[in-house]
Amino acid sequence: MAVYYSRSAEVPIIMEALTNILDQPLIINAALSLAGFILAMVVLPRFYPLFIKAGLFGKDMSKRVPPGKEPVKVPEALGVIAGAIFLCIMFLFIPIPFWRSWVVDGKEEFPHHEFVEFVAALLSICCMIFLGFADDVLDLRWRHKLLLPTMATLPLLMVYLVNFGSTTIIVPKPLQPLLGPALNLGLLYFVYMGMLAVFCTNAINILAGINGIEAGQSFIIGLSIMAFNFYELTRKYPESHQFSLYFLMPYTAVCAAILYYNWYPSKLFVGDTFCYFSGMTFAVVGILGHFSKTMLLFFIPQVFNFIFSVPQLFHFVPCPRHRLPRYNSKTDKLSMSYTKFKMKDLNILGKTFFKLYWILGLIDVRQGVGEDREYVECSNFTILNLMLRIFGPLHEQTLTIILMVIQIIGSCVAFFIRYKLAGVFYDVVE
Ligand code: UD1
Ligand code: MG
Repeated sequence: MAVYYSRSAEVPIIMEALTNILDQPLIINAALSLAGFILAMVVLPRFYPLFIKAGLFGKDMSKRVPPGKEPVKVPEALGVIAGAIFLCIMFLFIPIPFWRSWVVDGKEEFPHHEFVEFVAALLSICCMIFLGFADDVLDLRWRHKLLLPTMATLPLLMVYLVNFGSTTIIVPKPLQPLLGPALNLGLLYFVYMGMLAVFCTNAINILAGINGIEAGQSFIIGLSIMAFNFYELTRKYPESHQFSLYFLMPYTAVCAAILYYNWYPSKLFVGDTFCYFSGMTFAVVGILGHFSKTMLLFFIPQVFNFIFSVPQLFHFVPCPRHRLPRYNSKTDKLSMSYTKFKMKDLNILGKTFFKLYWILGLIDVRQGVGEDREYVECSNFTILNLMLRIFGPLHEQTLTIILMVIQIIGSCVAFFIRYKLAGVFYDVVE
């Protein structure tokens, strides 16, 4: 039976349906994310020739090169395309959470502070993508890598200062007799948040060098924080977790597309652009969502790798340009890569760290090999080399999978700490 509406009845029905949809920002965000994923899947391969033509390519160091042939040029820094798609989705999405207060409730009710947070968060991520791309093109030095994320967080910290302003933290229960229930960190709080961004961006960038690892770890971290946010939506402070999801759903969607092409054997390299983009997105949602400590829990393998790397990052022990595992073309497997130095050239810190890691069995050491009696060789201080030390030479894909499993176990531990152990340190509000 046909149903007829008069034109006047139709309009309100359509309007109502439209407002119902517009009132579901998370669903719209999810739909846009899906569109972003499909777009990224389609356009990424189309950019390969353009990047190669622009000189943005690298050599996959863990692949066989047939004799007499040139190594395959793998386009590098494709993270910038993922970042651009992410930004487009976010720009389209900006009006959605605010439309009701804008159109219906009138200008007085408009939540300016939330709006500014949203735009400042995007500004910080946008700056980081830009600076990351500059790094890929210009191959910046290590000290710049520390400076760039600090600069990019400044807009965010400014908004945080103006909007939220509180720099007081709750002291963990075991320390309360010493420090009291709450502590105002003042400027230190902003130093902490700036460092958080530096850490997140660089920690992903240095857990790198084999196919699929940068994108894979970011994808798992993204999904884990999303799971945390979805769970928290049903609890006490849903707003900040909803805010986090607005960023993380599109991020994880474009990350999935990047991962698809970056997985073994890689068709593209993500570049430092992607590592900075990822780290900054996580830092932004952690800071503005007020869950930076929980966010760091999802970085357990990265925290370990970062601390393990410190002696090389600060050059107490020589750090070669690439610390990625060494490829053996005969067996098609990866083994540990080494750094070579004279013991007497190390300063006191270098010697201490070297001996400590050696005693703990974290590194492989070869002394006085061959004619170079004075030289010592030790495996580079990365979690990848540590895995190869434990498991012996592995195929590249196997090593990536092991690292992904570690990342997933890390997330499970994070959830356990957050929901089961947090009560030991804080009065958890249910
Ligand atoms: C960081 C690491 C470095 C590691 C490099 C690998 C530190 C301090 N720096 O440097 O040790 O070697 O990442 O990305 O820990 N590549 C591959 N296969 C891959 C991914 C990358 O062969 O799956 C190679 C390619 O040649 C590519 C290059 O690594 O061109 C990219 O390195 P880049 O991101 O510029 O290195 P950094 O981030 O500076
Ligand atoms: Mg890199």
